[in-house]
Amino acid sequence: MTTNTPQKSILLLALLLVPHLAAAATPGNELISQTQRRRLLDYHHRNGGDNAHDAVDPSYTFPNPHLRDAYVAMQAWKRAILSDPHNVTGTWNGPDVCAYEGVFCAPSPHDPYLVVVAGIDLNHADLAGHLPDELGLLTDLAVLHANSNRFCGAVPESLDGLTLLHELDLSNNRLVGAFPDVVLRLPSLRYLDLRFNDFEGHVPSELFDRPLDAIFLNSNRLRFTIPDNVGNSPVSVLVLANNDFGGCLPASVANMSRTLDEIILMNTGLKSCVPPELGMLTGLKVLDVSHNSLMGAIPGELANLQNIEQLDLGHNRLVGDVPEGICHLPHLKNFTYSYNFITGEAPVCLHVKAIDDRRNCIDGRPDQRPADQCQFFSTHHSVNCDAFMCKNSPPPPYYEVSPEDRYLSPPPPSPVYYSSPPPPYYEVSPEDRYLSPPPPSPVMWKLPVYEYSSPPPPATTP
Ligand SMILES: *[C@@H]1O[C@H](CO)[C@@H](O)[C@H](O)[C@H]1NC(C)=O
Ligand SMILES: *[C@@H]1O[C@H](CO)[C@@H](O)[C@H](O)[C@H]1NC(C)=O
Ligand SMILES: *[C@@H]1O[C@H](CO)[C@@H](O)[C@H](O)[C@H]1NC(C)=O
Repeated sequence: MTTNTPQKSILLLALLLVPHLAAAATPGNELISQTQRRRLLDYHHRNGGDNAHDAVDPSYTFPNPHLRDAYVAMQAWKRAILSDPHNVTGTWNGPDVCAYEGVFCAPSPHDPYLVVVAGIDLNHADLAGHLPDELGLLTDLAVLHANSNRFCGAVPESLDGLTLLHELDLSNNRLVGAFPDVVLRLPSLRYLDLRFNDFEGHVPSELFDRPLDAIFLNSNRLRFTIPDNVGNSPVSVLVLANNDFGGCLPASVANMSRTLDEIILMNTGLKSCVPPELGMLTGLKVLDVSHNSLMGAIPGELANLQNIEQLDLGHNRLVGDVPEGICHLPHLKNFTYSYNFITGEAPVCLHVKAIDDRRNCIDGRPDQRPADQCQFFSTHHSVNCDAFMCKNSPPPPYYEVSPEDRYLSPPPPSPVYYSSPPPPYYEVSPEDRYLSPPPPSPVMWKLPVYEYSSPPPPATTP
């Protein structure tokens, strides 16, 4: 991997912004971080003291103990890397860790005369191996980017030593196990990107109480009901697509109206009505709840989404007419409601720049469902939205669909969604601020919002 100058300067710019983050680290956290560090070092002295691997060459001198710890961490990481096709770790030798490829040093936010490892950027390095416990020794790290590698295993608990960590991007790796709770204990974390891994099971609701700016969990094997406190999250971007949640789309998302720009819940198994409260998200630009089992009518309140640009309700079981007000929204560029059981749309809807109304039950429109499907659905489908009990905290009793009700079942999401990343999704306009040089990647269906985080990359099919 050759050193990419623009990327480096972007990262350095990011690091210049780091000192103000120091304010986020309370003295308590500082204490925790020191305790954590001592614990790891103790661990080393006890278990590794006589281990040639961990011995630091006595001829090496380090400008300060932080860089010595960083050396120990980077050497442990190098040993944990089993494949390095671009020879990224070729420079990871000797005591000058600041010269290692992918390592960025900067003055500590606590002491301008103390140079520390503030960033690690190993995006797209194609490294295979695991993340060693010693990464917890990198206590000054503000940015850890390791997307598009082949790191497997679990995320080490010791990362809770990284009390200054602001951005964690481990997307597009082969990480497994339960949702890494350690990210909930990172007081400075703002950007969390874990998409395209194999995390499974439950996501702790505490995640939505954390002061994060962006959460990407899409394309894992997570299974949970989106909790009511999702509305507490101050994120501007929430992408949970391609997991298996089931249950309700909580009305509490309305409480995110001050911050939320984009929410992508595509293919998450949602089974409820569309809460009218969504209309309160007046800053929202992208809303995608496609490929779920949402039922009932499209709420007229969605016509209050003054800033919406992309609205995707496709591949659900929605009925009734498209509320005309939505089609008058001034910024709406792409309105998709194909593969539902919609029966009417105002002529103005056909003037939205990109409209997709295929496979509904709309008289006089091309490519609609067969009449018998529409007939069957309209006589068998009645939804009592209250029956989902979405406004109460306990998980809802799922709406029962009788087995013979073949038209009620939407086409099952293609198995492709589970085995490989979804196809390119949003057309990205050139002025899109999220976009640094776009890799033409099948994964780029949703771009990260953070200026200094590079987008994830083609997921490699083994
Ligand atoms: C890897 O990089 C190091 C340092 O640049 C160099 O000395 C070494 O020969 C390289 N190894 C290979 C296999 O290219
Ligand atoms: C928003 O939060 C408040 C207080 O936490 C809660 O009472 C209210 O019901 C929430 N709004 C929605 C739409 O859930
Ligand atoms: C509109 O959005 C859908 C998905 O929501 C996408 O498949 C389609 O390509 C988009 N159309 C345009 C013209 O951007």
